[in-house]
Amino acid sequence: MKNLNITAKIRVCNYEELNSSEKNLINIAKDATLKAYAPYSRFQVGAAILLANNEIVTGNNQENAASPSGLCAERTALFYANSQFPDEAVDTIAVAAYTKGDFIDEPVTPCGACRQVILEAQNRYKHPVRIILYGKKTIYIIEKITDLLPLAFSEY
Ligand code: THU
Repeated sequence: MKNLNITAKIRVCNYEELNSSEKNLINIAKDATLKAYAPYSRFQVGAAILLANNEIVTGNNQENAASPSGLCAERTALFYANSQFPDEAVDTIAVAAYTKGDFIDEPVTPCGACRQVILEAQNRYKHPVRIILYGKKTIYIIEKITDLLPLAFSEY
């Protein structure tokens, strides 16, 4: 028997350390939180996606009284991006969350279903999807979704 040790590379930084393109994408994700429909959790999440053609597409969480019918910000943004720009690789996704009158201190991290959908985009376009997870105090930068979803199921 042997052990399989899985490692993930996550850059931990703060807003001031980012370049202008990263700051811009975070600010757009923060703006997108304000349009979320989250009357049940009151946890408003925004996602901003930079595509290979430099287009930026946003989304936010859309809740529903029948809760499984709602959708996270990441998937709302990704499905919209893929539906509008099916030929453009997904380059970067930035995610921010706003609750109780402020943006959260520590980074919001995508749920398992969103990780699986981001993985599909990475495989579909054969292009690593960079992930920027925003918190007021701490920001995580992950260079590819496989760091957040090791041993992922994929047919391809
Ligand atoms: N949510 C997202 O939209 N993205 C995440 O990364 C974490 C959670 C949403 C789902 C639900 O509408 C609310 O946040 C509370 O869980």
